[in-house]
Amino acid sequence: MEVFKRHIMETTAYRIPDHFKISAPLIQKEYLINGELLEWNGPTADVISTISSTQEYSPTLVGKVPDMAEKEALMALDAAVDAYDKGQGVWPTMKVSDRIECMEKFVRIMETRKDEVVKLLMWEIGKSLNDSIKEFDRTIEYIYDTIEDYKNLDRDSAKFEKNGGVYAHIRRGPLGVVLCLGPYNYPLNETFCLLIPAIIMGNTAVFKPAKQGVLLISPLIEAFKESFPKGVVNIVFGRGRAIAGPIMKTGKIDVLALIGNSLSANALQNQHPKSNRLRLVLGLEAKNPAIVLPDADLDLAIAECITGALSFNGQRCTALKVIYVHSDVVDVFNSKFAAAVDALKYGNPWDEGVSLTPLPEPGKPAYIKELIDDALEKGAEILNPKGGEKSENYIWPAVLYPVQKNMRIYEEEQFGPVVPVLSFDDIQEPLDDMAASNYGQQVSLFGSDVYTLAPLIDTLANLVCRVNLNSSCQRGPDVYPFTGRKDSAVATLSVHDALRSFSIRTFVASKDTNLNKEILEKLLETKLSNFISTDYLL
Ligand code: G3H
Repeated sequence: MEVFKRHIMETTAYRIPDHFKISAPLIQKEYLINGELLEWNGPTADVISTISSTQEYSPTLVGKVPDMAEKEALMALDAAVDAYDKGQGVWPTMKVSDRIECMEKFVRIMETRKDEVVKLLMWEIGKSLNDSIKEFDRTIEYIYDTIEDYKNLDRDSAKFEKNGGVYAHIRRGPLGVVLCLGPYNYPLNETFCLLIPAIIMGNTAVFKPAKQGVLLISPLIEAFKESFPKGVVNIVFGRGRAIAGPIMKTGKIDVLALIGNSLSANALQNQHPKSNRLRLVLGLEAKNPAIVLPDADLDLAIAECITGALSFNGQRCTALKVIYVHSDVVDVFNSKFAAAVDALKYGNPWDEGVSLTPLPEPGKPAYIKELIDDALEKGAEILNPKGGEKSENYIWPAVLYPVQKNMRIYEEEQFGPVVPVLSFDDIQEPLDDMAASNYGQQVSLFGSDVYTLAPLIDTLANLVCRVNLNSSCQRGPDVYPFTGRKDSAVATLSVHDALRSFSIRTFVASKDTNLNKEILEKLLETKLSNFISTDYLL
């Protein structure tokens, strides 16, 4: 305990580089509704980082954000509804090339704000400098890729088809008004992976940043205002219950786009008076397992399980949250894995070579401790000497073994630094567990014999949506489909799929008559319609 605490003291305070210090709290006064940056004079909420600015531990006030309520939530909603204007608004009817131009303007401005966003990512959610930079760059790349993909989509629609004597000009059209809610662990990337495809397809949006990872949106608010017509993107701050609930109750939301957990998703969708009208784009919880077979390359499996279970302290929906190891190799795996966990470097996000960083949720160390204590009471042991040591803002990852199904850590999505390990004799055991689980996002499978792997891959592909062979689970590269079964997701997100998730096929059909032909020819010639157009986007 003492060693760990001393280590934290060494890495904070005087080791904060000057350009990362919080010289004064950032007071976010403005919010964006109907194209206007309005000034907030009502109650505010403190944004507190669990990272200390001083050697003596004390959380840091990073800034303040508006704590808005129903009135402002509904104002934002009205602005989005008006901008959509029953599909007749400027934005949903705009030429694809013009919408792309707005998006290009936005991403160019966004790129200039990288340093501010990265700094806030570190302070607000404790993400390491490297990972914060990666989150920013990955988001920029996602936006450029989305623009390219949308061009392709549009090129494919720049034509007529004829079947059964009927011409059809088929495109993908917007759905309406989107409520966009992102998570704290990827407050920029995952939120924008919803918001960007939603708006580029012609929808309008109300966007409420997550409770943590909220101030980092501040440097970008102006970019939204500058780049899109009024009402297309409306940004409000406050608690989910105060903002999202009242918005859903109006029944005016067409798409609920949320990365979070199924409890909030269910609560919100249940508030919509006509759930049949509501499209859901949801990325939810998961309990991705790793399965280590007796012939696995153990060093590789251990390295991948370390990254899979503990990158960003396990606060990823794709994190490995339970590890099944064949009983023939479990002892070797456990001793090497436990040693590798204790060899990780803990420190503040800007510290060199750091992999474990402070947890942004003040209650998280205590929650993880509860899971550990419950497992110990029911017969598990902590395999690594540092496991479970607590400081003010951290708890060292405990490797727990043998984990049993009656333990909380087996059932609950820990979303933090603790690694449960189970052993198995028969591969059917982890397969049955996965089939019985509420989740179905991904699995990591470690082994080498193709005769063993082949039937397993075929089964696992039907239990989850991504089988990672000899590698940890992850969302990226973002061009690949990101989805899940059961309580893990609704709809698919990838650069390509997200454009589909936020749109619907809609088309103009015309019987092959002289009158219709003449009309179509004139429509193309005069370019009066943005929908009926065979222009090829370059
Ligand atoms: O929290 C869930 C994220 O989608 C995980 O993304 O696998 O790239 O860390 P990642």
